[in-house]
Amino acid sequence: TERTLVLVKPDGVARNLTGAILARVEAKGYTLVQLEMVNATRQVLEAHYEEHVGKPFYEPLVDFMLSGPMVAAIFEGDSVIAGFRSLAGATDPTVAAPGTIRGDFGRDWGLKVQQNLVHGSDSVLSAEREIGIWFD
Ligand code: GTP
Ligand code: MG
Repeated sequence: TERTLVLVKPDGVARNLTGAILARVEAKGYTLVQLEMVNATRQVLEAHYEEHVGKPFYEPLVDFMLSGPMVAAIFEGDSVIAGFRSLAGATDPTVAAPGTIRGDFGRDWGLKVQQNLVHGSDSVLSAEREIGIWFD
């Protein structure tokens, strides 16, 4: 089996989509094993987004992730890392396929791809790393 870190980003929480988003992950068959509402800190986000430090979108991304509460969750199941990313859809919600979380609930609100509702780990290594950042 496998575990992944899922974040419902501040836009998802602000738009009251947390339940709908988590329900889709559960409905696909993955098991919720940890759940917490969190206010991120700059320090946590710097660790979480270390691969993006220095990119032009990094500072705006961190400010966005600090703009309101988020929900952090761990889901478990065979191939859950790839399965969740498939369910989340493409990074850009404008072009994310209908049927995906980003495709159905997301759009460009003026910042292109920044407000895309969810984060999901992209490998076993990053899942372990990110779970260690958000959960003790
Ligand atoms: P995550 O699951 O959130 O990691 O999304 P991802 O793996 O599909 O995207 P990536 O790791 O490349 O980027 C992380 C996040 O940074 C994205 O989800 C977006 O919120 C934001 N982002 C990525 N690229 C851009 C960009 O070009 N401009 C802006 N404004 N934000 C970006
Ligand atoms: Mg990513």
